[in-house]
Amino acid sequence: MKPPSPSLPLLLLLLLLSSTIFAAPSLSPTPSPTISPVPRTSPTPRTSSSPLDPKQLKALESLNIPTAKDPCNHRPSSKSSTAVVTCDAGSPFRLVTSISFTNCSSDLSISSTALKALSSSLTSLSFLNCPSLSPPPRLPESLHSFSAVNSFLRRRKGLSGVFLARLVNLTDLTVSSIPVSTSGLYVILGNMHDIVSLTISHANLSGSIPKSFHSNLTFIDLSDNLIKGSIPTSITLLSNLKSLNLSQNSISGEIPDGIGDLISLKNLSLASNKLSGPIPVSISSIPDLTHLDLSGNQLNGTVPRFISKMKDLKHLNLANNAFHGVLPFNASFLKKLEVFKIGGNSDLCYNHTVLSKKMKLGIAPCDKHGLPLSPPPQKEDSNSDYDYDNADDTSEKKKEEHHGPNKVVLGVAIGLSSLVFLIIFLILLAKWCG
Ligand SMILES: *[C@@H]1O[C@H](CO)[C@@H](O)[C@H](O)[C@H]1NC(C)=O
Ligand SMILES: *[C@@H]1O[C@H](CO)[C@@H](O)[C@H](O)[C@H]1NC(C)=O
Ligand SMILES: *[C@@H]1O[C@H](CO)[C@@H](O)[C@H](O)[C@H]1NC(C)=O
Ligand SMILES: *[C@@H]1O[C@H](CO)[C@@H](O)[C@H](O)[C@H]1NC(C)=O
Ligand SMILES: *[C@@H]1O[C@H](CO)[C@@H](O)[C@H](O)[C@H]1NC(C)=O
Ligand SMILES: *[C@@H]1O[C@H](CO)[C@@H](O)[C@H](O)[C@H]1NC(C)=O
Ligand SMILES: *[C@@H]1O[C@H](CO)[C@@H](O)[C@H](O)[C@H]1NC(C)=O
Ligand SMILES: *[C@@H]1O[C@H](CO)[C@@H](O)[C@H](O)[C@H]1NC(C)=O
Ligand SMILES: *[C@@H]1O[C@H](CO)[C@@H](O)[C@H](O)[C@H]1NC(C)=O
Repeated sequence: MKPPSPSLPLLLLLLLLSSTIFAAPSLSPTPSPTISPVPRTSPTPRTSSSPLDPKQLKALESLNIPTAKDPCNHRPSSKSSTAVVTCDAGSPFRLVTSISFTNCSSDLSISSTALKALSSSLTSLSFLNCPSLSPPPRLPESLHSFSAVNSFLRRRKGLSGVFLARLVNLTDLTVSSIPVSTSGLYVILGNMHDIVSLTISHANLSGSIPKSFHSNLTFIDLSDNLIKGSIPTSITLLSNLKSLNLSQNSISGEIPDGIGDLISLKNLSLASNKLSGPIPVSISSIPDLTHLDLSGNQLNGTVPRFISKMKDLKHLNLANNAFHGVLPFNASFLKKLEVFKIGGNSDLCYNHTVLSKKMKLGIAPCDKHGLPLSPPPQKEDSNSDYDYDNADDTSEKKKEEHHGPNKVVLGVAIGLSSLVFLIIFLILLAKWCG
């Protein structure tokens, strides 16, 4: 009988330490969220740079922007009315490049003098919730981005098309919840050759959709206006377009056959217009389409089966149209969608051997001739269609629950096996040494 080797407790300690070191990384396989805030909290120090141009400083003062501290680094205080200013890093003086006003106080006015002093450098200007503000007579034509939301509503005047049309260097234009008076969008866009993103929504914009657009447009939102006429075929030339929203207007005629040429499109809403005719076959050739909303029109014909071949589709709304025949979708396609609405098509029915009544589609089951069985199944309003949101949520959660434990189990397994290896290794080592 030998006395226990003095190195044994030491070995045990070593074993414990090394096992935790081995196990630790395998127990945190997902990138730790505590890492990402670190670079964000350390701001890029620009404080050592040159002072703001004195003329521009004066201009900012006249716009009620506090200049006691460096306005370029001005962070919005807790006050409800704020202006955020950004500047370039120029020398000997820095220049203002963007100003955004939010919740302006009612005594703010934008003087032409101030804008003139800023015009050499200002490229971005935005107003959010400044309803009592009067629009300045002219904006600097140097602007690349102009945004006005729920502003300039004094005496319900809003903005004129000519006022906006002068901003010929814009790439981004957003006007929302402000009336825009013009004889048509073509007046505004005529000389905006660089426009990339266009939003004029909730603006009572009248006229028709222009026959020609600038080809770099990637985003168009003209929703909730008074636009009339048909969708011009030329819109299908916008091959960079990712999102087209023409919903809530009075657009009539058919959806152009060439709609499938919009190969970059992800979101398409033509909802709540007066469109008629069929859904063009070419729509199925838009590879990345995820949102398709054609609800609230007078579209007719059968619901095309090719829609179920669209791989990325997540949100499909065909409710409140005049489709007829048998709905050509099966349950596995509908389960894949996050939102599906088809109610309010009184001549459309579903095959009850393919789709269950429980889906509450809002349309009648078919009889053996493919016609809706009367009486209709329910008297719910046509919008309360089966919504796959809930179904999807639960399956998502289940997936996550499976995911979580799996990673932990894996981590523990790796940890344990490295522990076992270590023990064996150390025992061998102890024997060899002893
Ligand atoms: C502007 O006002 C709205 C409501 O009055 C408030 O919710 C919002 O936080 C304000 N925004 C800023 C930037 O102060
Ligand atoms: C628009 O931009 C171009 C090039 O960036 C510039 O030469 C021109 O002066 C600008 N136009 C106006 C009106 O500022
Ligand atoms: C558009 O016109 C209607 C009716 O004249 C009015 O009630 C509404 O407030 C206007 N919308 C805007 C954004 O001015
Ligand atoms: C579209 O954008 C590219 C690069 O962003 C530019 O070179 C081209 O001139 C633009 N085309 C038009 C028609 O503005
Ligand atoms: C499409 O619409 C969805 C939901 O409204 C939105 O989250 C997404 O950013 C939109 N995509 C584009 C390209 O506008
Ligand atoms: C289109 O615009 C309407 C109204 O502004 C909005 O509710 C809807 O989410 C938009 N749809 C898409 C696909 O962008
Ligand atoms: C669809 O409606 C148009 C008129 O809006 C009509 O000419 C056409 O015959 C209809 N097509 C079908 C299949 O009902
Ligand atoms: C459901 O429809 C899709 C698309 O049409 C098809 O690929 C799939 O095989 C169908 N699934 C069943 C179970 O019939
Ligand atoms: C319903 O589906 C079944 C099985 O796919 C088929 O035999 C039947 O003809 C369909 N009924 C109608 C009305 O399309």
